[in-house]
Amino acid sequence: MGDEHVKTYIDGFDDKMQGGIPAGSVVLLVGQPGTMKSSVAYNILFNNAKENGSRGLYVTLEQSSKSLARHMASLGMDPKEAADKLEVIDIGLIRKKLTQLADQSWVQVFKMYTKNLKETNDYKLLVIDSLPVLNVLAKFENPREELFHLFEWLRDLDVTTMLITEMTPDTANFASHGEDFLADGIIYLRMAEIGDISVQRQIRCVKMRAVNHNGDYHSLLFDKGRFKATKSIAQTR
Ligand SMILES: Nc1ncnc2c1ncn2[C@@H]1O[C@H](COP(=O)(O)OP(=O)(O)O)[C@@H](O)[C@H]1O
Ligand SMILES: [Mg+2]
Repeated sequence: MGDEHVKTYIDGFDDKMQGGIPAGSVVLLVGQPGTMKSSVAYNILFNNAKENGSRGLYVTLEQSSKSLARHMASLGMDPKEAADKLEVIDIGLIRKKLTQLADQSWVQVFKMYTKNLKETNDYKLLVIDSLPVLNVLAKFENPREELFHLFEWLRDLDVTTMLITEMTPDTANFASHGEDFLADGIIYLRMAEIGDISVQRQIRCVKMRAVNHNGDYHSLLFDKGRFKATKSIAQTR
């Protein structure tokens, strides 16, 4: 990990992490469905591509690249604006490669593809959406051990990685196979209940190695393609 930091472009949040995510980190982006994990991750790639020319690769295993593009455009992040710097690959594409390379396992094809793109494209930021789906597709027999190797492999890739992880409403655990210990950082998104009827989007940096970070909950606001974190003043349950 160098001294460089990757900005999240969430106004008011980067300065809570001494400038952003340390370059080279593998960070979990955790939350229940609908907490805008994909949107936050895409926003990081989109704005880094647009604002400072950093290349990004977004691997979407949960939804097609078409559906992702539509969602992001509706949020004011039109993929066309970052087209030459931000590549999106989806599960359909990996399946196609898989039939061409019949003797390879799913995870081998995934690794080969992301590694090849690193060599040709030299992307600096990688999003995997999501880790639980990758886990299922890869049919890991021993998830703990195989995820450990995947994290090592990602560190060797020499990029900053955001791994999206889904939490189910019935658990307080960030991950089920020790990913929270393996990761360099954890950013948590939630819908907090305010009183009996209201909910508020919130974000919190739970862990960030090598950073003296603020771990408070912040309100997460979204307006016209920009995320903003502000001090959370409401009393939540
Ligand atoms: N224009 C918008 N402004 C704010 N929130 C939006 C807008 N459009 C969709 N959303 C919210 O985004 C959520 C989906 O975001 P997404 O990043 O796909 O979440 P996740 O990946 O965590 O499931 C929806 O539940 C919806 O509430
Ligand atoms: Mg999502």
